[in-house]
Amino acid sequence: MSDHDQLKMTAMNYASDRPKADNPVKIEDLSLRDGHQSLFATRGRTEDMIPVAELMDQVGFWAMEVWGGATFDTMHRFLNEDPWERIRTLKRYIKKTPFSMLLRGQNLVGYRNYADDVAEAFVERAAENGMDIFRTFDALNDYRNFETVVPVIKRCGKHFQGCICYSLTEPRLGGEVYNIDYYVSKAKELQAMGADSVCIKDMAGLIAPYDAYDIVKAIKEVVTVPVHLHSHFTSGMSAMSHLKAIEAGVDIVDTCMSPYAYRTSHPAIEPLVMALLGTNRDTGFDIRLLARINGILEKQVMPKYRHLLDDTKMSIIDINVLLHQTPGGMLSNLVNQLREMDALDKIDDVYRELPRVRKELGQVPLVTPTSQIVGIQTVNNVLFDDENERYKMITAQVKDLCYGLYGKTAIPIDPEVQKKALKGYARGEEPITCRPAEVLAPELPKAKEEIGDLAVDTDDLLIYALYPVTGKRFLSWKYGKEPVPEEVRPVTLEQVRQRQELVKKALAGELVEKPKKEAPEKSDSARTFNVFVDGEYFEVGVDEVGGSPVLNYIQQMPASAPMPAAAPKAAPAAPAAPAPKPEEAPKPAPAPAAEADGTPLTAPMPGMIVSVAKNVGDAVEKGDTVIVLEAMKMENALPAPTSGTIKAINVTQGASVAKGAVLAVIG
Ligand code: CO
Repeated sequence: MSDHDQLKMTAMNYASDRPKADNPVKIEDLSLRDGHQSLFATRGRTEDMIPVAELMDQVGFWAMEVWGGATFDTMHRFLNEDPWERIRTLKRYIKKTPFSMLLRGQNLVGYRNYADDVAEAFVERAAENGMDIFRTFDALNDYRNFETVVPVIKRCGKHFQGCICYSLTEPRLGGEVYNIDYYVSKAKELQAMGADSVCIKDMAGLIAPYDAYDIVKAIKEVVTVPVHLHSHFTSGMSAMSHLKAIEAGVDIVDTCMSPYAYRTSHPAIEPLVMALLGTNRDTGFDIRLLARINGILEKQVMPKYRHLLDDTKMSIIDINVLLHQTPGGMLSNLVNQLREMDALDKIDDVYRELPRVRKELGQVPLVTPTSQIVGIQTVNNVLFDDENERYKMITAQVKDLCYGLYGKTAIPIDPEVQKKALKGYARGEEPITCRPAEVLAPELPKAKEEIGDLAVDTDDLLIYALYPVTGKRFLSWKYGKEPVPEEVRPVTLEQVRQRQELVKKALAGELVEKPKKEAPEKSDSARTFNVFVDGEYFEVGVDEVGGSPVLNYIQQMPASAPMPAAAPKAAPAAPAAPAPKPEEAPKPAPAPAAEADGTPLTAPMPGMIVSVAKNVGDAVEKGDTVIVLEAMKMENALPAPTSGTIKAINVTQGASVAKGAVLAVIG
């Protein structure tokens, strides 16, 4: 063969018309869900998926993951987008490739177990709106939490993919709990439940290549359905693990288009296509088509999201994942929470306490929501415990976990911790052993009564049932009952360009002084952008008056300034809370009125008031819950610091409060 022929041959092989492999690896693309969830805090907008949708449909993916996980939460909360509408819109462009969603078992797309009526309605509506494959997992691998959703998936004629959350207690596969027998028995359990495929869900990127080989091989021996590997890149091992899993006979692996790949996301598709080209597991994909899609993403889409990428480090892998076996997103959440509490110096204490708390809470896998539950409790222990008392401030979710509301933990929960957590717990002090949702009363009738006509159909009702506070706010925007705030509106490429232009000038020192002097009064529609350029961080205020943006201010933040919370990479499944903008920074609650002398109940951390349990005039015992504060998605029941009568309540439900704010006064 001459050199020329060789070249011609190569060119032909790029195309999808090369000879078909005996056993092609099937690929699920995750760009439009896990990809942007991992890298861009799930902020991807539907309008930015459309430019590549039809081309991606041509690639030949086994499925495209486009929904579920954190998308439902983020869309209605931060993007003013109806989550249901996304499925229908994308379906108009992606006609051949099946859609996959991540379903958190009985947690659906939220952070707690919902009642059976909500779970059934949710799956039915997702199927009806166009979902084909339900990738279903439970944070505890307690498959009783699948018992409600699976029959509905099956009844709707859809694909039930059962997941095994991959977890470790040792540096590699093995040990008492998470050993190969554990994974094999879980796979058998899933097949027995009717799983159409079994997925090893390695959300933290912990699976080492040779362990991936062994597990896939062992599972392939005991199940007949396809085996699927989902492995995040976080630790840097997943591309190698893919290859070993492919050698062991894995049927399907997950990748992203390269702009959505690596870091805490997944390996890119292109290197895998090339690595397998001409082998018996060749994907058959046309790499030039992939390159074309990437070109569009780079030019038309990525400029809008770049600022969300955590580019504060050179390294694209997270060494802490290898050291602490905790998901990357969980670590960044912990760091954010400590930063908000001005306690970043305690991070090493948190690393030390974490394995202990995890063990005491039943050695649970660390995945949403258990990663947050264990993580936030660890932070609480480090910040609030002293040498005489541990677990001084127990979150509501830890109490629920101890009660059995999430399911059965891998090992029993420490009895002392469990007893303390359940003291005075509203559902009872004796933990349950049944399927958790059995103790949950139907939730839809009450939700319907509460939301009334604002929910026009079941899809609306589910938005409210899943997310009462933000869901109601979204429905008010959707139906024009409340104005849509500027910060949830999309930005255009032109706005991005202008923003970058301003930063460039500021960097060159051409902007800072002059516009400052001439800056007009900042209007209510001013928006603040956090802009990162070459490792420098600017806060830019842009005011759009009469169509063209007017620079309001630009401020270079000191190198030591904390990065805003919106910028760090996404948690695998929970979007970070948005950074409070300077002009919207939560103000401490007003000082109590003069007549309200007494002991103040202050906010131990910044957060949002979920509920106020007591009224002015109520008698309380020391330790009674007065207010429930949500911080980092965990609810903290704030106890009365002393016995007495409630003299003042300074906050209402939904209010944002700063650390130290006086929430109530007891006299
Ligand atoms: Co994932």
